[in-house]
Amino acid sequence: MSNLKIHHIGYLVKKIDQAKRTFEALGYRVEQDTVYDDIRKVDICFLVKDGYRVELVSPVSPDSVVANLIKKYKNAPYHICYETDDCKAALSALSADGFLAIGTPAPAPALSGRKVIFLTSAVAGMIELIVD
Ligand code: NI
Repeated sequence: MSNLKIHHIGYLVKKIDQAKRTFEALGYRVEQDTVYDDIRKVDICFLVKDGYRVELVSPVSPDSVVANLIKKYKNAPYHICYETDDCKAALSALSADGFLAIGTPAPAPALSGRKVIFLTSAVAGMIELIVD
């Protein structure tokens, strides 16, 4: 699995505009301003600091994919996203390590339409994999 590279850390926030200002005050720079993801019904904003990329994710409606997660976690990191140059190999290795796919690959408007898939592991929580 050494071919996985961290792309970003997904961070749930209830109020994306205020969270963005607070992250900027912490020294983050906005890499991509807020984009609405109409598939997942979330607002997404990317910020960077010290080589780390953080994705602020905020539910926009009660049927957003993260509506329940945010009740549980409130404002908190909740997934790490990886990219790989060999998606097929990564997916089979992840599966062998006990990761289960949540749904099927779907385009991510905030990533210029690149496709992503989410997976969960009973011991490692949720990850996201960019699959193209
Ligand atoms: Ni993400």
